[in-house]
Amino acid sequence: MDRRRIVMGNWKMNKTPGEAVELVSQLKDGINTDKLDVVVCVPFVSLADVGRLIKDTNIKLGAQNMHFETSGAYTGEISGLMLKELGVEYVIIGHSERRQYFNETDQTVNKKIHKALEYGINPIMCCGETLVQREAGVTMEKIRMQVKRGLQGLTPRQATKIVVAYEPIWAIGTGRHATANQAERVCAGIRCVLSEIFDEPTAAKMRIVYGGSVTGNSAKTLFDMDNIDGGLVGGASLKADFENIVNC
Ligand code: PGA
Repeated sequence: MDRRRIVMGNWKMNKTPGEAVELVSQLKDGINTDKLDVVVCVPFVSLADVGRLIKDTNIKLGAQNMHFETSGAYTGEISGLMLKELGVEYVIIGHSERRQYFNETDQTVNKKIHKALEYGINPIMCCGETLVQREAGVTMEKIRMQVKRGLQGLTPRQATKIVVAYEPIWAIGTGRHATANQAERVCAGIRCVLSEIFDEPTAAKMRIVYGGSVTGNSAKTLFDMDNIDGGLVGGASLKADFENIVNC
């Protein structure tokens, strides 16, 4: 199956707008985007500047969150409509840090995904188990629940716009990535769940990526696996190493 590979940088709460422009300017010259999609998910305040900078390139603009309503009395929130106007093409939904610190649930994730699709923005839906869950042998149970609830009510056609990011919580920001075999096993499991929810051809079209301490050293073995179509990269996306990850 010919799935176009995708590598996404998740900057989290890092870089001021000035620093963001500097980093993306360097990145623009260093990477080759002919064979894959490259997305930079920058903080809200840098979206406009970075968007202008990458306008004539193949690098795509991503946000790290959005609200599930279009507008209204939600102090401090940002809507999909606002993101759309800035040229945002991808949005991370349900990152484990948002689930942990900002009370995101599978229900809000599901609402946000529906809303993003309404605006033609591709959702990057995150899922992943804790170390305790992995050690208890319930990794796939956890993932299955997150994926099924998160993607509830979507048509197969809508589903093909989604990128599912498998990010084991124990691997995020720890310097300890999952082995290629561990990651492949779960990503293959996710594809089975997707074919149960939708159908096999749809599942075969959907992109599933791995995230959690990906670096230039580990990227190639991970991305070479059959069911891993790229990566969601945190820490290493803030450094020149991101170029190695993309170019590998
Ligand atoms: P990390 O973060 O690459 O720094 O582990 C990945 C993520 O949280 O998306």
